[in-house]
Amino acid sequence: MGGAKIAIISDLHVAPAVALKGTVAAPGDKSISHRAVMLGSLAEGDTVIENFLPGEDCLSTISCFRKLGVEIVGPERGKVKILGRGFWGLAEPDDVLDAGNSGTTIRLLLGILAGQPFFSIVTGDDSLRQRPMARVARPLALMGARMLGRQGGSLAPLAVQGGGLKPIDYKSPVASAQVKSSILLAGLFADGVTTVGEPFRSRDHTERMLKYFGANVEISGNKVRVTGHPRLKGQRVLIPGDISSAAFLMVAASIVPGSDLTIPSVGINHTRSGILDVLLEMGAGIELVHQREEGGEPVADIRVRYTGKLAGITVAGETIPRLIDEVPALAVAAAVAEGTTYIKDAAELKVKESDRIATVVTLLHRFGVDVEELPEGLLVRGGRPLKGTICESQGDHRIAMAAAIAGLVAKGETVVRGAECINVSFPGFASVLKNIQE
Ligand code: S3P
Repeated sequence: MGGAKIAIISDLHVAPAVALKGTVAAPGDKSISHRAVMLGSLAEGDTVIENFLPGEDCLSTISCFRKLGVEIVGPERGKVKILGRGFWGLAEPDDVLDAGNSGTTIRLLLGILAGQPFFSIVTGDDSLRQRPMARVARPLALMGARMLGRQGGSLAPLAVQGGGLKPIDYKSPVASAQVKSSILLAGLFADGVTTVGEPFRSRDHTERMLKYFGANVEISGNKVRVTGHPRLKGQRVLIPGDISSAAFLMVAASIVPGSDLTIPSVGINHTRSGILDVLLEMGAGIELVHQREEGGEPVADIRVRYTGKLAGITVAGETIPRLIDEVPALAVAAAVAEGTTYIKDAAELKVKESDRIATVVTLLHRFGVDVEELPEGLLVRGGRPLKGTICESQGDHRIAMAAAIAGLVAKGETVVRGAECINVSFPGFASVLKNIQE
């Protein structure tokens, strides 16, 4: 009977909180955990990853690379060991690769598969099979891979006959680290230098980790170049805490009166730290303590103290890619803040795990917030008391966590239906939330 999956549906009950106090760790960074598995698989020798995120998305990446013949031990107590296969060591999978809910898994994996001289098929869950894939399939086809998929190659499942890649100089129409990384990873298998440019700088974890593993990567402005056929050497990778998960705790401590919370060892990479800038500008009490570099990434302990002085602001332009995953959390801060928060230039929100403009608006309406959906963003008129409600995760982990932190300041009980999706990025979120309440 192997293969049958049992869906466990769970509700999360949240009561109004008095104050959030203490020190609590955010789980390992999702983006960096994926990349460590991928580069570790392509490197020569062993890679040991510490503080790996055992969320469902990263487990999907591990399972895909196991199907490609890579021996991977763990995760066990945050540790993963990868017995690197070397640059040309992946094997043709004898079954479909399943990326689950994970856009990073499918898009970055497609870049690697495009370079492989074999046939493979990649798919994902209901949400992932609706998300746009032409943004990677097209440039990978330009490099010489044969890419086939539903709706003219724009939706998964996607089939790839890879190999024989040539480098390209590609101008991405969107600021997307998944697009950039997919092409850079394919570029590893091309003869010569592959270049990717983007309208605004997206997260740069691939560039940093490629350098860390020994590849030649050059960055100038919004352009990145990678030289093909590097020798990647296995490394020890220490994964920082995920600022995208920490964001929910940061917003929670900023809106619950009397809070004083410290989140140790969080990644504060500039391409990800837009939420820190924006919360500070809104009047939150955030302090970065003991700033340092770990494993090629900047890290700090983040202390958040309630100020009671949040005010609405406008967030737009190049800040958007720097906080794209934090918009559901930010929207909750905006609902509590006095005045109007205007989130602009954020059309990319529509193609996340859910249409996050629509799902954030639906969620905030449930709490009685005055919020308006805009073609490329949203407008929140904050400062009205929130009322507890029964709401849906809408299948999106970040919507479920946004609902939970809104519940901390809402009057009466809040029930988040379908909260099991939180395991995608923040296993243990419900107990963390409980443990920090006085
Ligand atoms: C990610 C990039 C972002 C982000 C996603 C993770 C990554 O997506 O939303 O959660 O790890 O590269 P886009 O590249 O589509 O903006």
